[in-house]
Amino acid sequence: MSIHKSESIKRITTHQLQAMKERGEKISMLTAYDFSMAKIIDSAGIDVLLVGDSASNVMAGHETTLPITLDQMIYHASSVIRGVERAFVVVDIPFGSYQGNSSEALRSAIRIMKESGAHAIKMEGGAEIRESVTRILSAGVPVMGHLGLTPQSIFKFGTYTVRAKEEKEAAKLMEDAKILEECGCFGIVLEKIPAALAKKVTESINIPTIGIGAGPDTDGQVLVMQDMLGITTEFQPRFLRRYADLNKEVGEAVRQYIKDVKSVDFPNDGEQY
Ligand code: KIV
Repeated sequence: MSIHKSESIKRITTHQLQAMKERGEKISMLTAYDFSMAKIIDSAGIDVLLVGDSASNVMAGHETTLPITLDQMIYHASSVIRGVERAFVVVDIPFGSYQGNSSEALRSAIRIMKESGAHAIKMEGGAEIRESVTRILSAGVPVMGHLGLTPQSIFKFGTYTVRAKEEKEAAKLMEDAKILEECGCFGIVLEKIPAALAKKVTESINIPTIGIGAGPDTDGQVLVMQDMLGITTEFQPRFLRRYADLNKEVGEAVRQYIKDVKSVDFPNDGEQY
């Protein structure tokens, strides 16, 4: 199998994402965690691939994103990078690898960039991570923010419900978005907030916003790949549109394979040496 990159494909950059916002072209973003799926999604023309710490849920089966380690994120990110020719690849800095101080945050960001070959990192939070964001950006690493329902803080929130419905939290979110823009972030993920607030934030800042459960007026949309392909079935939030039913299709294929093996229908005369 060849993993050499084609010379003719032009890679997406932060500048192109900014230009997309400016001309009103929506940005498409999906998560990916491994080489094979990244290759399929990239070939289909996705703009941004996120190696999300949701790998902790959908790849490792943990209940939250908290257990995934920096080494595990680097493993997933380097696998994705090898499958991508065009998409811009963003990697989540995992819980516990940046909250200590800005030196720790910078070290973690540099490890991700150096060891995986990723193009940018994503961090959850606003004012409270300002120093770390600034330090990472000053090292030349593009940073994407993440506001609203930030899953690394799930034990503080206590629930995965919509965030920033109240005026005070909405005002803080708006302020955080402006801080992240001022710091130099190239974009911000807005997760599970009222559509009207997402619209207001998107119109108030000049960098692209990417929504998940944040309505139609953000500059782009992101979904977890396993959710949109119908691999996960138990997760049914209102914002999720399923584009395939792979859980059913894979189950059917495997049941047929088992049947064929048991009945010695597989392998047949043409499937042997
Ligand atoms: O980890 C992740 O998949 C994410 C998306 C939900 C935005 O952060």
